[in-house]
Amino acid sequence: MKAIISPSLLSANVCNYLADFKVFNEKGIKVVHIDIMDGHYVPNISIGLGQVASLRNLTQAEFDVHLMVTNPDEFIEDLVEAGANSITIHSEVATHLYKSIYYLKSFGIKAGVALNPATPISCLEHVYSLLDRVLVMSVEPGFGGQGFIPFTVEKIKQLNDVKTKNKYNFTIQVDGGINLDNIEDVIKAGARDIVIGSSLFKENLSNNIDLFNQRIININNTP
Ligand code: DX5
Ligand code: ZN
Repeated sequence: MKAIISPSLLSANVCNYLADFKVFNEKGIKVVHIDIMDGHYVPNISIGLGQVASLRNLTQAEFDVHLMVTNPDEFIEDLVEAGANSITIHSEVATHLYKSIYYLKSFGIKAGVALNPATPISCLEHVYSLLDRVLVMSVEPGFGGQGFIPFTVEKIKQLNDVKTKNKYNFTIQVDGGINLDNIEDVIKAGARDIVIGSSLFKENLSNNIDLFNQRIININNTP
């Protein structure tokens, strides 16, 4: 699978949403990453259900919701109603992870689980085969614009080894601190869904999408 970039709306200026979605559509963005926070699991809040439903009208792209709340199950039905195609919950808050994954999948959407930087991949050992996405957080969740945590590259490699060895179907997603200098490392380690916030929305979104896409083409062409 070719790597894709997923713009993280958290870094967008709400005043520019219309123009930004026009750019997503023009540039063929396939997945829009939507961070939802509760100010409790993470020390920040972001957009809610009503905003997701409004934005749904602006694109056909997949809405991939990264749910950073302490009680994810309680939001899933309403998020699907609002237009989410994929929901990722955090392993650290899911007391009954197996049940939550099943619940997510019962809505016919993609199911993902996120791992904070210090959370070992082994916590997913028994549920890998149920997952569409595994999100490796390369910063602590909560804010855009943080520095990439280097040891997470090794974690992506470990996860990719497990995936390859067992022929699992999940996509490895990475989120946090991705820029033009480190995107090669995470792709070479096995990540294929690259969430990018601040590095994409600074200055010119359209040019930045081109720069990242060109970098991915160069990485693919490098032996
Ligand atoms: C952080 C969020 C990220 C964030 C990424 O908790 O999950 O999606 O928007 O932004 P950057 O790329 O700036 O780290
Ligand atoms: Zn995110």
